Amino acid sequence: MRIALVTGGVGGLGLATAKQFASDGMTVIIADLDGTIAERAAATLEGDGHRGIAFDAGNEQKVIAAFKQVESEIGPIAVLAHFAGMLGTGGTATGISLADASLDDWDKVTGLNARGTFICVREMARCRRARPVEHGRIITVSSLAGQTGGLQSGVAYSASKAAVLGITRAAARDLASLGITVNAIAPGPIDTPMLAQATGQNNTGTKYTKLDSIPLGRVGLPEEIAAAASFLASVNGGYVTGATIDVNGGLFMH
Ligand SMILES: NC(=O)c1ccc[n+]([C@@H]2O[C@H](COP(=O)([O-])OP(=O)(O)OC[C@H]3O[C@@H](n4cnc5c(N)ncnc54)[C@H](O)[C@@H]3O)[C@@H](O)[C@H]2O)c1
Repeated sequence: MRIALVTGGVGGLGLATAKQFASDGMTVIIADLDGTIAERAAATLEGDGHRGIAFDAGNEQKVIAAFKQVESEIGPIAVLAHFAGMLGTGGTATGISLADASLDDWDKVTGLNARGTFICVREMARCRRARPVEHGRIITVSSLAGQTGGLQSGVAYSASKAAVLGITRAAARDLASLGITVNAIAPGPIDTPMLAQATGQNNTGTKYTKLDSIPLGRVGLPEEIAAAASFLASVNGGYVTGATIDVNGGLFMH
């Protein structure tokens, strides 16, 4: 049984991916800030043996402890899907322009999205070096904002999501010798609470303000991100590494 650790696993995209992984037959560990909510989410997944744990992706010591707990109590993690992230201020969400962007926001957002991705990917690398697995996979989560400079998000978010692409490519080269593939998913606007936050809306929904720019004419569904993650995690996805999988309705083609 392959074990998958899904960080940010109670959020819109993380939970959809956790559900998909469970239906793909993996044992899923939902890792998120609140351990009780993570446990509750894990209990809704198809099949047995899934777990929820408290996890803080931006805290080095807590990440190390959480990996250690999973590896010793459950087994070696074959798939890390790292969805934990935050939007911060700036862009449409708050109307704060670059000239007014704060260093505090920069530190918080890059501290979780970039530094946190580094911490989690590094911990997975350390665990797998100590105890190799077959078909190891790391899936990071960038964003259209990291590719285009952000249509609705602030400078720290865009920069942090560009950093995720650099981490992904460096890790893909480094971890190839361990047989681990490392790929990024770059979502466009997907219908989750974070999109509602980015668009300044209170509810989730399809209130994206730039629908006309999306060739497919709609925002995406969390399940459509989960489908990409499922492919990247699969054994047959083993010849794809260092790639960025765009799931953006055609909003950005390159
Ligand atoms: N929804 C979109 O349109 C969209 C687009 C591009 C990229 N993304 C990225 O996808 C990922 C998931 O976003 P989402 O839309 O599901 O957002 P979401 O807000 O629904 O979920 C984010 C999850 O991360 C968790 N989290 C926050 N800080 C954490 C921490 N320090 N440690 C562990 N977990 C933490 C939250 O509790 C939440 O469950 C994020 O990295 C986001 O930047 C989303």
